[in-house]
Amino acid sequence: MLAPDGLPVVTATRYVTPLKEGGSLPGIVEASDDGTYVLKFRGAGQGLKVLVAEIVVAGLAALIEVPVPALAVVHLDARIAKYEADEEVQDLLTASVGTNLGVDFLPGSLGYDGSQPPTVDLAERIVWLDAVTANVDRTWSNPNLLVWRGRTWAIDHGAALYFHHSWPSRPPSPQRFAAQPFDASRHVLRRVGGDVSRRHTELAERLTPDAVSTVVESVPTEWLEPTADLPDAAAVRTAYREMLTARLASPAAWLPGAPS
Ligand SMILES: Nc1ncnc2c1ncn2[C@@H]1O[C@H](COP(=O)(O)OP(=O)(O)OP(=O)(O)O)[C@@H](O)[C@H]1O
Ligand SMILES: [Mg+2]
Repeated sequence: MLAPDGLPVVTATRYVTPLKEGGSLPGIVEASDDGTYVLKFRGAGQGLKVLVAEIVVAGLAALIEVPVPALAVVHLDARIAKYEADEEVQDLLTASVGTNLGVDFLPGSLGYDGSQPPTVDLAERIVWLDAVTANVDRTWSNPNLLVWRGRTWAIDHGAALYFHHSWPSRPPSPQRFAAQPFDASRHVLRRVGGDVSRRHTELAERLTPDAVSTVVESVPTEWLEPTADLPDAAAVRTAYREMLTARLASPAAWLPGAPS
């Protein structure tokens, strides 16, 4: 089944285990499509905005052929929470009844440790993606890359697009985001890739306004929280689109050059 917005919709059938590594206490669930998902809970401390960032950045990643696990909207019903013995997990499940974000579980994947680096080409695409989306969460202390089937996969984009955390108190400013520098010096792939600025034209061409719009449309409407300046989900979608297209159009402030 497809949500009107685009992502597949499935129902969790079993909570398997928490993923101890994850700061947001993500868990593994099995679902009605026989799939296994890493579940990012709507009831986790960071709220719905991190789920929105996950979807938008993964959608942009796919457009520039950065491997990312498939995403789905996962319904969690109250019965699953009832059978959970661990109190902390039970509280999280109870707070997350409804729709959550499922990330296709990559079985047997390994955390990135530099021993199997991606190609220079892929490293540059990942650094560029993180610069466009202001994702600071890909450093050696938290690489957020998995190695699976001989390729490097990008995961965990909840920290990107952090501008949206200020929306409740101030109106979106595409100009401000377009001018926000990006510090690539601590990026885990900085030294695998070369001069990322050479890649900008080719990669930005794939993120046309229409393509960005389609990605933003794939976010479930109920996850787009209105604010005083953004009265409904359509206004919130427009804001994401405008922020991203403004940044793509003016790379001078944020585009990394060659590693120093
Ligand atoms: N799709 C996946 N397939 C297999 N393992 C995964 C997948 N997604 C996440 N993991 C594992 O779970 C860990 C935590 O996931 P993730 O980084 O997405 O969660 P998080 O709570 O945002 O983490 P943190 O804030 O600690 O970075 C990853 O480091 C990885 O080991
Ligand atoms: Mg992580």
